[in-house]
Amino acid sequence: MRIHRIAVIPGDGIGPEVIAAGMQVLEALAALDGGFRLEFTSFDWGSEHFRRTGAMMPEDGVEQLRRFDAIYFGAVGAPDIPDHVTLWGLRLAICQGLDQWANLRPVRLLPGIRSPLAGLAPDDLDWVIVRENSEGEYAGHGGRSHRGRPHEVASEVAVFTRAGVTRIMRFAFAVARSRPRRHLTVVTKSNAQRYGLVLWDEVAAEVAREFPEVTVERVLVDAMAARMVREPRRIDTVVATNLHADILSDLAAALAGSLGIAPTANLDPDRRAPSMFEPIHGSAFDIAGKGVANPVGALWSAALMLEHLGENAAASRLLRAIEAVCAAGILTPDLGGRATTLEVAGAVCVALGSGE
Ligand code: IPM
Ligand code: MG
Repeated sequence: MRIHRIAVIPGDGIGPEVIAAGMQVLEALAALDGGFRLEFTSFDWGSEHFRRTGAMMPEDGVEQLRRFDAIYFGAVGAPDIPDHVTLWGLRLAICQGLDQWANLRPVRLLPGIRSPLAGLAPDDLDWVIVRENSEGEYAGHGGRSHRGRPHEVASEVAVFTRAGVTRIMRFAFAVARSRPRRHLTVVTKSNAQRYGLVLWDEVAAEVAREFPEVTVERVLVDAMAARMVREPRRIDTVVATNLHADILSDLAAALAGSLGIAPTANLDPDRRAPSMFEPIHGSAFDIAGKGVANPVGALWSAALMLEHLGENAAASRLLRAIEAVCAAGILTPDLGGRATTLEVAGAVCVALGSGE
């Protein structure tokens, strides 16, 4: 019996609701599979922890996570605490502390879900966005001086290192090569950002030589936003900086029907530390506690986690069950349906059992 130790951080708002749904489905899946078991350890880190202790997690939080095989994360953010405090205190502290440098965001139009783009069929939108996850615009460099004075100054420095760009580029090319179309769009803004993103272009050209099977295209980020809407079929794998990919992935999720379905994996592809899996949506306080949060993003993230743990059969079984439930129209209100979080999770459990 293979045992996987999972650290669970449900976090804030709808985080605990979708993570509970995810754990229920994962338990059902492990029981059906029979080859592996998941050992969950929950951590009450997040905004409530901040109100109680003044910190989003304990000082040695990142070290506590190291002994796990993976981290399953809900959402973070609260109306009464500044967003940059909650973000840097927990999610970014973990991603950067464990050097989870590759962020993977698959986006697909699932059967039964309508895209806001007219006439789009599921096969027309099947992308993987690779987001640089350790530096760029999220490097944390910058500062403020002359606070509150008319000549106050604030800087926010995007940092690009050859090592950081090279590793994400190799990762993205490898992802592109593993997919049938073998196509990679390298997104930059190297016309305006003439240092970091010109380095990005140069490294892309160098790494491209290592992957002759992959067709590469370079597109500026503004043009890429338009292409996503106008020519979604021209896109397969995408690599972009931390901020550009953040923005493009929200657009992508919206085009695929809802932010509620999109999953993400914060990976340490070198496997020196556990990787972290989470829905891309936030804590959504407007709907928290109502039981209507869409669990699909959390469930799909659980499938990515299983894949990373080597449980490929279970991962594809879970994805097929999610697709079957969506195709059957068992959808939460964000997708125009009337099902609750638990009804969707329950239906996924049933679909798992029926081998769909
Ligand atoms: C994401 C989110 C986060 C980010 C937020 C919650 C700070 O939007 O994972 O895409 O910007 O990285
Ligand atoms: Mg985002």
